[in-house]
Amino acid sequence: MKIHFVGAGPGDKELITLKGYKLLSEADVVIYAGSLVNPEILDYCKEGCEIHNSAYMNLGEIIDVMEKGVKEGKCVVRLQTGDFSIYGSIREQVEELAKRGIGYTCTPGVSSFLGASSALGVEYTVPEISQSLIITRMEGRTPVPPKESIESFATHQTSMVIFLSVQEIDKVVKRLIDGGYSETTPIAVVYKATWKNQKIVKGTLKDIVPKVKEEGINKTALIMVGNFLGEEYNYSKLYDKDFKHEYRK
Ligand SMILES: C[S@@+](CC[C@H](N)C(=O)[O-])C[C@H]1O[C@@H](n2cnc3c(N)ncnc32)[C@H](O)[C@@H]1O
Repeated sequence: MKIHFVGAGPGDKELITLKGYKLLSEADVVIYAGSLVNPEILDYCKEGCEIHNSAYMNLGEIIDVMEKGVKEGKCVVRLQTGDFSIYGSIREQVEELAKRGIGYTCTPGVSSFLGASSALGVEYTVPEISQSLIITRMEGRTPVPPKESIESFATHQTSMVIFLSVQEIDKVVKRLIDGGYSETTPIAVVYKATWKNQKIVKGTLKDIVPKVKEEGINKTALIMVGNFLGEEYNYSKLYDKDFKHEYRK
């Protein structure tokens, strides 16, 4: 038996993959990240499914529940918010499982940075405006390697999504400007993207801080910054009627 890591998606209970849904509905044991996963998604679990909220557990306790489950021949699902490959602490879990000789499968989820771009109806990679996306966070109790400072990424002036940092939005904004973004750069903060109580705050680096504070947003939000949010755009070459390629001569 293997542990099944499943990405729950950003919030909306229908934004789990079919494969993830299937695993969840077959699970005998589910360990879900209660601080961020929408509990409505647990409606998919069968009757009698044993449910654990990892918000109250440490790593050892999580692995113990997993080990007990597989030893009893049960289907164990570890349900993580968004996709587990982004700030999902999956590495330490699989390393601990390996020490106990337990294997695992991974079923991806829709990360919140994708839920947020859909909420805004935007493209991160607007032709000739920005062709790269930086996903990062500001250091908090978890450090960030010095080479990955907000200022250093801001020098690229490309699209950025900043996780886990909205509680210090004023500091993030200052560091983005110090790194080279102009005060007129568009920025958006999306709180609980795809949840029923989602909030969107839009502005520029000059005026976003009071707007976010006024909405009382200090957690579960993403900061999106860059000219991909602006008025300027270009059409892609791909669909240009004069652009010939393999499928369209
Ligand atoms: C530990 S990280 C987990 C990220 C998750 N693995 C993902 O792929 O979205 C938690 C942070 O993700 C962001 N986040 C998670 N869900 C969100 C949502 N629905 N809307 C906005 N931000 C969200 C917030 O910045 C939050 O502090």
